[in-house]
Amino acid sequence: MYFMTQSRFAQSAGLETSFHVAIIMDGNGRWATARGMRRIEGHRRGARAVRRTVRAAPPLGITTLTLFAFSCDNWKRPGSEVAALMGLFGEYLASETGELLENGVRLSVIGRRDRLTEPLIAAIEACEDATASASHLHLRLAIDYSARDAIARAARLPASESEPAIDAFRRRLGSACGDSAPDVDLLIRTGGERRLSDFLLWESAYAELFFLPRMWPEFRASDLAAAVAEFRSRQRRFGGLSAECSSRERS
Ligand code: FPP
Repeated sequence: MYFMTQSRFAQSAGLETSFHVAIIMDGNGRWATARGMRRIEGHRRGARAVRRTVRAAPPLGITTLTLFAFSCDNWKRPGSEVAALMGLFGEYLASETGELLENGVRLSVIGRRDRLTEPLIAAIEACEDATASASHLHLRLAIDYSARDAIARAARLPASESEPAIDAFRRRLGSACGDSAPDVDLLIRTGGERRLSDFLLWESAYAELFFLPRMWPEFRASDLAAAVAEFRSRQRRFGGLSAECSSRERS
């Protein structure tokens, strides 16, 4: 049981109070094929890795975790693989709600819902409602998600003139994809590819990127810890100068 409030975790570890990690969980199919298994078996093992990762996140100070489960482009896959994935998402939501609740995890799903089946939508809504008041970790599953689609939808929503443009757009983007979250601090991709694949493009403007060759079914708590350790060793300047450079310039 890893329950402790988000901010207490962060404070006790001397960390920032918001820490958003996003993961492109790639490599399920290759992992299975390399072992003579069907691709869906890789996705099943991938669901286990999701469980491990959700458990491992809070002790590392992670307050928001967004996982890319199914992109708008994944509809191009064979119908049997798509159906199996949708089935897995439904099973995960139904079987995990208890553990999520017990551990203070709030679940939300981002992306389009109009192409999902009724039973999956019902499972999403039930899990979201059951965990709505949890505040330890915000777990976001991206299902039928495309960052470009979300940005295009947000651009069509009415703007508020009174807010600064960036803040106003952030709010609209939250409405367009079904939920809002702080900017991504660390974006991890497993499976060896080095691309963003239409994931959280706006929110990752200043994200630190971490690519690792390990296939998603083999992703361990220690991999997450290593990525977070590497993140903490990086200097984030957000377009400015390091503290050292700034003080040298001033003197
Ligand atoms: C990409 O690997 C992965 C996906 C398209 C699906 C991600 C799904 C899971 C991790 C399974 C369960 C998720 C939840 C939330 C229960 P790929 O199949 O494209 O791998 P490949 O590049 O090796 O073909």
